[in-house]
Amino acid sequence: PLTAKVNNQDHLEIGGCDVTTLVQQFGSPLYILDEETLRTACRQYRESFQRYYKGESQVLYASKAWSCLAVCAIAASEGLGIDVASGGELYTALNAGVSPDKIYFHGNNKSREELRYAIESGITIMADNWRDLQQSVELAGAQQPVRIMLRVTPGIDCHTHEYIRTGHLDNKFGFDPGDLDEVFAFVSKQQALNCVGVHAHIGSQIFERQPHQDLAALMVQWLTKAASYGLNLTNLNVGGGLGVKYTESDDPPSIEEWVKPICEVIQQACAAQNLPLPKLLCEPGRSLIATACVTAYTIGSSKVIPGIRTYIAVDGGMSDNPRPITYQSVYRTVVANRMSASLTQTATIAGKHCESGDILIKDAQLPKTESGDILVVMATGAYNYSMASNYNRLPRSAAVVVANGEANLILQRETYQDLIRQDCLPERLKKNEG
Ligand code: LLP
Repeated sequence: PLTAKVNNQDHLEIGGCDVTTLVQQFGSPLYILDEETLRTACRQYRESFQRYYKGESQVLYASKAWSCLAVCAIAASEGLGIDVASGGELYTALNAGVSPDKIYFHGNNKSREELRYAIESGITIMADNWRDLQQSVELAGAQQPVRIMLRVTPGIDCHTHEYIRTGHLDNKFGFDPGDLDEVFAFVSKQQALNCVGVHAHIGSQIFERQPHQDLAALMVQWLTKAASYGLNLTNLNVGGGLGVKYTESDDPPSIEEWVKPICEVIQQACAAQNLPLPKLLCEPGRSLIATACVTAYTIGSSKVIPGIRTYIAVDGGMSDNPRPITYQSVYRTVVANRMSASLTQTATIAGKHCESGDILIKDAQLPKTESGDILVVMATGAYNYSMASNYNRLPRSAAVVVANGEANLILQRETYQDLIRQDCLPERLKKNEG
C-alpha cells in the first residue's frame, strides 16, 4: 500500500510529500501517484512468476488503467511490457520508450489505420476476430509475417460488475471457443501470420481465484488443440482482472496468492498433456496502479438538509473520477489537513458537476471540515484519469509522481485554451450577433 504517513503538522504525507503543500503548488483536483507503490506491485508480479513458474514469463501493464508517458515508463523500467487497446495507447507506449517487442495490441474493432500502425511498429496483434486476421494478412509486409496471438472467449464467468465481465460467451470480445478448429486451421496455413499463442481475459475487480485457475486449465487444452493443427503456440496470456481493496470490506487475494495457483495449474496441465511449458503472460491494470494514487480535492461549499443529509462539495467529481456514477464504486476518504481529528460527521461528498448523480462518496465518516480543507480520495490510480472527461468543460486535472520527498509533474493541468483548442468556429458563425 501507499508510502504514506501523518507528519508533525497532522497532515497526510505521501512519498515524503505533504499533500496540502502539493495542492498549494500544483492546484486541485490533483492526482498524486506514489512511485514506490507502483514499482512494488510491478515487482510483486514479476517475482511471483519467477518463484512459482518454471518456464518463462512476462507481465504486461494494461495501460487502459492509466495511460500516460510517465506511467508507461515506470512500468517498462520494472521490466513490464505494455498492453494497449487503441492507436492512442500504442502511440503513448512507443513514445514512453517501450520496446515494440513488449507491446501487445488489443481491441474488438481495430481500425485499418490502427492495425497498419501496429504492424509497422512491429508489435504483437491480439487478433480478436476474423476481420483482424484478414486485415493482418492484407497488411503484412513482403517478408515479415505479422506476430499475432488469438483472443478467445473462454466461457468462464466470475462475480463482478456486469459492465466489466468479459469471460462469459455472450460478450463482444474474442473468438468463440466453438470456432477454434476453423481459426487454427486458417492460421496454420497463413505464411503472413506468425501466431505465437492464445489469450483470454475474464473480467476486472475479481476477488475469487477459482475462475483464473479454471481458465488456465482450459487454455492449456487450447494449446493441445492447436498442436493438432501443426501450430506450435508458445505463449499463453491469462489476462488481468485481480481486484483491489477500495473499502474495508474488500478482501482481494494478494498478487502472489493470485499468481501461484495459476502457475501450478498450468504446470500440472502441461505435464499431464505432455506439452512444453508455454511462456506465461498476464496483463493486470488495476492491481498494479489503483492503490498507488490518490486524488486531492479542495472542499468548497456544503449544504445541510436537517435530519436528512449533509453534502460537502469538492472542486472535481465525475469528470476526474467517473467510477462512482458509472459502476456505483465505493471509495474511502481522509481529510489531509486533519488526519487525527475524530470522525464526528457523516457527509456525502459531491462533485461540482451539473447533475445530482455527481456524488463521489455517499455517507463518508469525516472530521468536522471547513471550506479550504483538502479532501483525499484513496485508490484512484486505475480507470480515473484514463476515463476522465471535460464534462461541463472542466479542464482535466494535473498529476504528479512523488518519491523520496520529491514531486514531479507528469500531466499538466489543462487550461481554458486547451479546452477550445480543437474547436472550430466556421466563418459564417463569427460575429453572429443576431
Ligand atoms: N486485459 C484486457 C483484455 C482487458 O480488457 C482489461 C480490462 C485488462 C487486461 C485489465 O484488467 P484489470 O487488471 O485492470 O482488471 N473501467 C472499468 C474497468 C474496465 C476493464 C476493462 N478491461 C472500471 O473502472 O472498473
